[in-house]
Amino acid sequence: MMAANRLSFKNITALAPMVRVGTLPMRLLALDYGADVVYCEELIDIKMAQCQRVENEVLETIDFVAPDDRVIFRTCEKEKGRVVFQMGTADPNRALMVARLVEKDVAAVDVNMGCPKEYSTKGGMGAALLSDPDKIEAILKKLVTGVSIPVTCKIRILPSLKETVSLVQMIEKTGVAAIAVHGRFKEERPRHPVHCDYIQAIAQAVSVPIIANGGSLDLVKTNSDIENFRRAAGASSVMLARAAMWNASVFSSNGPVLLEQVMEEYLKYAIRYDNHAFNTKYCLCQMLRDKVESPLGKQVQAAQTNADISEAYGLQEFYQQTRDRLQARRDTMQKSSQP
Ligand code: FNR
Repeated sequence: MMAANRLSFKNITALAPMVRVGTLPMRLLALDYGADVVYCEELIDIKMAQCQRVENEVLETIDFVAPDDRVIFRTCEKEKGRVVFQMGTADPNRALMVARLVEKDVAAVDVNMGCPKEYSTKGGMGAALLSDPDKIEAILKKLVTGVSIPVTCKIRILPSLKETVSLVQMIEKTGVAAIAVHGRFKEERPRHPVHCDYIQAIAQAVSVPIIANGGSLDLVKTNSDIENFRRAAGASSVMLARAAMWNASVFSSNGPVLLEQVMEEYLKYAIRYDNHAFNTKYCLCQMLRDKVESPLGKQVQAAQTNADISEAYGLQEFYQQTRDRLQARRDTMQKSSQP
C-alpha cells in the first residue's frame, strides 16, 4: 500500500545531486531557502554496503559509518521526508541492499545514470548504464518492488531523440516515481547549452513527472528563471545544481540573499552538524568562485579546521558556543549510560 505522505515529484524544485557539495549542511540550507526536495551527493553502492547505521544522539543525526569510522552519509529530522538518496550502482542486488539500508531514513532513492566521469563509468555505473538498458530495467525493477519508498533515476540524453524517448518509456514502465533529465549528451560539458527541446519531447511522451536539469549556466540565474526553465523544458519540475551551489538563495522566492550571508548560514550548519572541515572548505570555495583569491578566500583556503574557517567569517563565538553545547550533551549522555 502507498504511504499517504509519500514524496511527490510533481511541480517541485530540487537541489541536484552533487559529489562533495550535497552533504547535510548544503541540503539544509537549500531547504531553508525554499527547495522542496534535496538530493544527496552520489554515494557508491559498494562503499555504502559496508556502512553501519548509527544513531548519533549528540548531533541528533543518523549516520552511516564506514569500517574506518568515516561518516559516509549523515541525515537528520529536519530533512526527513524530503531527502533523496542518490546511489551509484551497476548491480541490482547491491542496489537493493543499499536502498534497504537507508529506506527508513530517506524519502526516496535515486540511481545515477548520467555521470560521465571515469570513476563512475569504469564500474559500469553512471552514464555507462545508458548503453545497457537491460541493466537499467533490472536495477529499477528490483528497487521499485523491493522498497516501500519512491524510486527515481537521473539520466542524460542519448544521441537521438527517438532513442531517448524509448529509453524513458522503458524506464517509466519500471514504476519509478520520477525521472530527472539532464538535457545534455554524455560527451557534452557543463558549459554547453542545455537541450530544452529534448526534455520537452520526453515530457510529452510519458506521464511520469520529468524533472528538468541542466539550466544553471545560461538559463537559471534568479528564482523567477526557475519557472521559465520549467516551461521551456515542458517539464513538471526543475532540479538545480550549479546555480544552487553558487548561491543557494536561488531557491528563495523572496529574492536573492547576499553571498556573505549565505556562506555564514552554510557554515553555521557545518558547525552544528560537525561537517568534515575539508568538505566545508570545498563547498565555501565553490561558493566563492572568482572571489577565491580574495583575502577571505585565501583565509578559507589556508584553514585546516572548522575553527579556522569560523575565524575567517568572524563566527568564533558561534563555533565555541556550539562546541560547548555539544560537549555538554556528550557528557550528559556518557553519565547516563554509566551504571
Ligand atoms: C554534479 N553532477 C552530479 N550528478 C549526479 O547525478 N550525481 C552527482 O553526484 C553529481 N555530482 C556533481 C558535482 C558537482 C560539483 C556538479 C557541478 C555537478 C551533475 C549535476 O547534478 C547536474 O546534472 C549538472 O550540473 C547540470 O545541472 P546544472 O548545474 O546546470 O543545474
